[in-house]
Amino acid sequence: MTYLIANFKMNPEQQEDMEAWIEKFQASFEGKRAEGIRVVLCPPFVWLPLLQQVVSRDKTGSFGAVRRSASDGGSKQEVLRLGAQDVFWEMRGAYTGEVSPSMLRNIGCEYVIVGHSERRALGETNEIINRKIKAALQAGLKVILAVGEPARTDEAGALDREVGPALEKQLVEALSGISRIKLGNLMVAYEPLWAVGSGIADTPEDALKAALFIRKCVGKATGTRHAQDLPVLYGGSVTSKNAAPFLTEEALNGLLVGGASLDAREFSKIVAMSANRSC
Ligand code: PGA
Repeated sequence: MTYLIANFKMNPEQQEDMEAWIEKFQASFEGKRAEGIRVVLCPPFVWLPLLQQVVSRDKTGSFGAVRRSASDGGSKQEVLRLGAQDVFWEMRGAYTGEVSPSMLRNIGCEYVIVGHSERRALGETNEIINRKIKAALQAGLKVILAVGEPARTDEAGALDREVGPALEKQLVEALSGISRIKLGNLMVAYEPLWAVGSGIADTPEDALKAALFIRKCVGKATGTRHAQDLPVLYGGSVTSKNAAPFLTEEALNGLLVGGASLDAREFSKIVAMSANRSC
């Protein structure tokens, strides 16, 4: 399975623009192959109900934007899923401004991004991230945990000396106390901070090394062999121009796309490339 996560961040401002995005995405995907891919749309909270309608139409088979190949009789496939960009760690209570995991579930969300670097920059610690992951898993959400080192270093051995320890700390602290069983509902997005929103993507080779290291760390942190199956995605300045080599790496299970997902046609191109990979 190849995962494509669209992180719209704090966009769009207007409902019309969200609707226009949906229309364009639908149009550019009409009739295309879509085996083995899952597209998770993560809009701001306010647009979740709007996108939920699109996702549920897909589930009932009337969305029509993404179809199986003709060999499958052209039947519709459930490709789209709904995700949130953040979640609170309590299920209920007096927490002004927060959104609980059960609220997300009840509105049709299946996924949630936790630990995005832009939230860490606002003060989110590994301890907070750990609480959010536990609450999200408990509510039955699937967690996309974002991790990444702050600065780029091209020196040989950087993974061992600088990148590795930074990733390991984030993973160990974020996953502390989480049972093996629930790891089936986890995926990790490797997003070096210097690559997020900078226009400078990591190399597929380094992303691959990081993905292998992440699986090792998660295995160690949770005492599980299941970490071999853990989906690890790459994120950070992905566009339709640089996505292809990431998609050829077998140990990378997809992409988390921020800025480029705001343009529906651009995002569709990346989705189409992923579908071809999965065929
Ligand atoms: P970007 O963002 O693709 O704009 O770099 C990635 C992200 O949202 O994590």
